[in-house]
Amino acid sequence: MTHILHIDSSPRSERSISRLLTKEFITAWKQAYKHDTVTYRDIGHYVIPPIDETWIAAAFSRSRELSPELEAALKISDELIDELLAADLCVFGVPMYNYSIPANFKAYIDQIVRVKRTFTVGQDGYEGLVKDKKILVITTRGGTYSNSQLDFQEPYLRAIFELIGITDITFIHAENLSMGDENRQQSIAAVSDVIQEFVARN
Ligand SMILES: Cc1cc2nc3c(=O)[nH]c(=O)nc-3n(C[C@H](O)[C@H](O)[C@H](O)COP(=O)(O)O)c2cc1C
Repeated sequence: MTHILHIDSSPRSERSISRLLTKEFITAWKQAYKHDTVTYRDIGHYVIPPIDETWIAAAFSRSRELSPELEAALKISDELIDELLAADLCVFGVPMYNYSIPANFKAYIDQIVRVKRTFTVGQDGYEGLVKDKKILVITTRGGTYSNSQLDFQEPYLRAIFELIGITDITFIHAENLSMGDENRQQSIAAVSDVIQEFVARN
């Protein structure tokens, strides 16, 4: 049985194409594997707080016992990390914003990349602590970025998830979404096919 963590990060609702596509994925997956389970988190509408000074003091504290204030500062981080660790497969809907990721997805990353919980620093440098997990990232983009140096989205997400130990990462890009109705519809249809293939393959 596979447990899926499904996260949407677009602040848009009905107009969001990343939401449409992650929903399509989950529907297809549930049809194929009826007993699999899904945890859903909507960080586009229920925004993750940015880390602050108390969070940093708590996360990097050397003492085992944290004061109630420091413990409280890590509450959402603990919750998000537990949720991530419980999943076998993570499905993230991530729009491209300004060549990169939306601030709310960055806030999520800042909460889950945490020393002693998802990575450690040893003699050989960083070591990821998150094992046996797959990630599928469905991105949405107004333009097209194949072989473009302006794609700071996929390389960044690969690098940061690899840091915490996740190397099995698949990207499905829905591109050209701001290039007129015909291009948008073609792109969505092509990505739908890729989503069905991914479900059939896994
Ligand atoms: C603030 C903002 C920044 C954007 N920056 C880019 C960009 O750098 N490159 C691009 O191709 N599309 C960009 N777009 C277009 C979005 O990626 C596109 O509209 C996508 O469909 C958004 O995802 P959603 O439909 O799930 O909301 C941007 C859109 C917004 C609102």
